[in-house]
Amino acid sequence: MRLTRRNLLGAAMAATLVAASPAFAAKPLTIGFSQVGAESEWRTANTASIKDAARKAGVNLKFADAQQRQENQVKAIRSFIAQRVDVIAFSPVVESGWDTVLREAKAAKIPVILTDRAVKVSDPSLFVSFIGSDFVEEGRRAGRWLAEHQKKNPNRGYNIVELQGTVGSAPALDRKAGFLEAIAANPKLKIIRSQTGDFTRAKGKEVMEAFLKSEGKNINVLYAHNDDMAIGAIQAIEEAGLKPGKDILVVSIDGVKGAFEAMMMGKLNVTVECNPLLGPQLIQTAQAVKAGQAVPKRITVNEGVFPAEVAAKEFPNRQY
Ligand code: AHR
Repeated sequence: MRLTRRNLLGAAMAATLVAASPAFAAKPLTIGFSQVGAESEWRTANTASIKDAARKAGVNLKFADAQQRQENQVKAIRSFIAQRVDVIAFSPVVESGWDTVLREAKAAKIPVILTDRAVKVSDPSLFVSFIGSDFVEEGRRAGRWLAEHQKKNPNRGYNIVELQGTVGSAPALDRKAGFLEAIAANPKLKIIRSQTGDFTRAKGKEVMEAFLKSEGKNINVLYAHNDDMAIGAIQAIEEAGLKPGKDILVVSIDGVKGAFEAMMMGKLNVTVECNPLLGPQLIQTAQAVKAGQAVPKRITVNEGVFPAEVAAKEFPNRQY
C-alpha cells in the first residue's frame, strides 16, 4: 500500500477509535483483600484507609471480612485465586497455618502482600512484601513507659494484669514478648495474671471483671494489647468502685481517638501508637508489584508514644 496522506490519516483515526473503545482501555488493577474482621476501632480505621486508597487510585478492590476466623481467610484467598485477581493482600488473623494456601497462590502466579500482621511460613517467597508495625517494639515501648514510671516511685512494687490480643496472632505474641523484655530487669514489676481478651471491648471488660474478682486491690497496673480492651476494662474497673488511671494504671496500644478521650478524662495513662492508615502504602506496593518493580520485603511504619500529659494537645491531630 502506498503511504498517502489520506491513508495515514485513516490509520491514525482507526487507532484512536480502537484505543478509546472500552475493550482496549487499560484494565484497572484488581486486588483481593481479606481483612481480619471489625473487632476494634483500629480495625475500622484500617479498613476505611484501604477502601479509600483503592477508590482514589481507581483500583478494583474485592474486600472480604473474615470475622476473626482463619478458615474464612483461607476461603477468601482461594476465591481470589479462582477469580484470577492481580494481587492478593491480607492481614492474617493468626501467624501460622498459611503455607498451603499461599503455595496455591504462588502456583497461580498471583503475588501476595501482607498488611498489618505477619505470618510464619517455611518459604519466605510465598509473599512479596509485608507492610506493618513492629509489634515487639510497641510492647517494649509500653514496658519502658512503666519501668520509667516505677523509677519515680522506687520503693513501690507493681502487680500487673495483662489483657492479651487474639491467641496466636502476631500482635499478641510480639507485644507480650516486647513488654516482658522491657520489664525483665525490674523485679518490682510483676505480671500476676494474663489472659486473652481477643482485641475486643466486650471481652476486655469480661476478663478484667474476672481479674478484679480474683485479685481485687492487689492489681496496680493493667497492660492491654489494644485500646479497645483497655476501654472495656476501664468500665469494669469503674464498676468495681476503683479509679482507672489512678488506683490501677492503664497502659495500652493503638492510639485511637477513644484512648485519647479516656486519657483526657484521666482514666488511661499511656497509649503506644500503632498506625492503621496502611491503605496508601498497600495500593502503591500492589501497583509496583503489578508493574514488575522490585519492592522491599519489609515496610515499617513510624509511630510514637502518647502519655496522658500530651493527650489534649495531640487530640486535634489524630486521624483515627
Ligand atoms: O493487628 C493490629 C491489632 O489488631 C490492633 O492493635 C488491634 O486493635 C487490632 O484489632
